[in-house]
Amino acid sequence: MKLFLDTANLNEIKEAAALGFLDGVTTNPTLIAKEKKRFDDAIREICDVCSGPVSAECVSETYEALVPEARRLAKLAPNVVVKVPLTKEGLKTVRALAPERIRFNVTLCFSANQAILAAKAGAAFVSPFIGRLDDAGHDGMQVIRDICLIYRTYGYTTEVLTASIRHPLHVLEAAKAGAHIATMPFAVFDKLISHPLTDAGVQRFLDDYRKIPR
Ligand code: E4P
Repeated sequence: MKLFLDTANLNEIKEAAALGFLDGVTTNPTLIAKEKKRFDDAIREICDVCSGPVSAECVSETYEALVPEARRLAKLAPNVVVKVPLTKEGLKTVRALAPERIRFNVTLCFSANQAILAAKAGAAFVSPFIGRLDDAGHDGMQVIRDICLIYRTYGYTTEVLTASIRHPLHVLEAAKAGAHIATMPFAVFDKLISHPLTDAGVQRFLDDYRKIPR
């Protein structure tokens, strides 16, 4: 399973990249706004640190405006993946530009039916938002399981990018469902590594080592 960071914070991205587990980055306007940088600069800087796919989100609302915006974002760096919302306008944009080899991440996906349309449009990635589904009283992980089953059944090559992850259990369940990618905040990424029993075990071995005569 590929692990992405869902952040625009360069320090977090550098720290994860240094560990060697960072396969890609997803951003959105909310995350970039927190960094107080110009949008294009923020994306370019992330692409310099992470060589995997880096999602940059379009904000235009019509097909006519999305097409030039998507082309512009795709030119920011070779590893930019253009994010468009799962709307009619977004899907039309993917259909039109995927043949130009622009890679799309269709975002704000909340149902398996929507994910079928993203795959048929030619998206490289689809992002179901499981945390927001859970928040609304739905079963976000069931949507991931359904999408993975449907994609396997029909041989769709679009990668399932599990998004809106809130805790490590989301990562585990997405992996068990067969999702290609989990994108998560740095705090969740960090929690994948730590375990209180590991810390206690390390401490005990160190204490016992000090008792060995030298
Ligand atoms: C994914 O690409 C999105 O940026 C993200 O996962 C949204 O998560 P949120 O629901 O925590 O805002």
